[in-house]
Amino acid sequence: MNNNPDSPTMTAPPISEPVFIRTLKGEAIDPPPVWMMRQAGRYLPEYRKVRKNAGSFLDLCYDPALACEVTLQPIRRYGFDAAIVFADILLIPDGLGQDVAFKEGEGPVLSPVDSAKAFAGLSMDRVHETVGPVYETLRLTRKGLPPETALIGFCGAPWTVATYMVGGRGSPDQKAARLAAYRRETWFGGLIDLLVEASVEYLVRQVEAGAQALQIFDTWAGNLAPGEYQRWCVEPVCDMVDALKSRVPDVPVIGFPRGCGAAYAEFAGATGVDAVSLDTSVDMAWASSSIPADVVLQGNLDPLAVVAGGRELDHAVDCILEAMEGRAFVFNLGHGLIPETPVDNVARVIERVRARGARHS
Ligand code: CP3
Repeated sequence: MNNNPDSPTMTAPPISEPVFIRTLKGEAIDPPPVWMMRQAGRYLPEYRKVRKNAGSFLDLCYDPALACEVTLQPIRRYGFDAAIVFADILLIPDGLGQDVAFKEGEGPVLSPVDSAKAFAGLSMDRVHETVGPVYETLRLTRKGLPPETALIGFCGAPWTVATYMVGGRGSPDQKAARLAAYRRETWFGGLIDLLVEASVEYLVRQVEAGAQALQIFDTWAGNLAPGEYQRWCVEPVCDMVDALKSRVPDVPVIGFPRGCGAAYAEFAGATGVDAVSLDTSVDMAWASSSIPADVVLQGNLDPLAVVAGGRELDHAVDCILEAMEGRAFVFNLGHGLIPETPVDNVARVIERVRARGARHS
């Protein structure tokens, strides 16, 4: 045994953090790390195979071995820099006791929480028991991932989750939730507070189970008038980030207030997130000059460009890379991959991102 403290055997080997995590901590790395929202899903034949035999979508989310398998599928196929745990933003409503089902061709269907009485039927008592399989999926997935691949945990932002809970299904205008919000229904405010509390605990437990970064999806942030956006998107996410920064301070948090336009410039400062994920409508040159340099950016390739492929796809990738040069940046989409995406086009994007970075180094 070697007892000399100066000898190399006594020095801990440098633990190299995944490039995705280094980027989220502010380092500009060339080529940038790349992953894609909805990278596990129906565009992959290997996903469709597992999905077919898994029963319902919720059954798949709550089966750690299968959920781990579909989380790893896009990593094996493409070597993304990060994996996102296979789950859904609507598991929290399920955990709170709402009836949640995913219907073929229809999307999510929930028993609406649209009154004080329905709100009173929700309970925090069983949330973590219900969503417990997600923590197990994270543990299994971390074991199955190469060390250079980061593992992302996630949840929906309170506003977006509330739009489904109140409306009972997806809608183009989120009318039911927006009306309850404008009317300042006491139960609506209570619902947002409940979601903040449940989601923080959910994310902290995801970190304990192996998540190394967290993303908060606010898919429907963009349909709110400025004052409403401030009250129902910025404030709850700010409360969540405050709590996360005190409980899991080293874990980077990505915010995705989809569609919030010029408000992206202030979002990180207002909420405390480390990074913002930009949707497809944002001009990355604008983002680079308008969002403070210490905010890490992620985005924002149009998922339809990935469906179309060809030169336009290459061009779209190049424009984003050019605008993001010199910034801490994670290459991603502006929204999730859609089922008709050709698998080869996903590979083409990754190759282009990495080849370009290599030319620059
Ligand atoms: O790969 C990943 O990104 C991880 C898994 C993931 C899913 N949903 C799996 C899923 C993530 C991160 C989500 C987030 C999610 N879920 C959001 C926010 C991001 C976004 O897309 O805007 C929202 C709004 C939901 C709610 C949701 N889940 C809807 C509206 C639907 C139906 C529409 C659709 O795309 O099918 C889902 C179902 C869902 N979630 C599927 C997957 C793979 C498809 C279900 C299936 O395979 O049968």
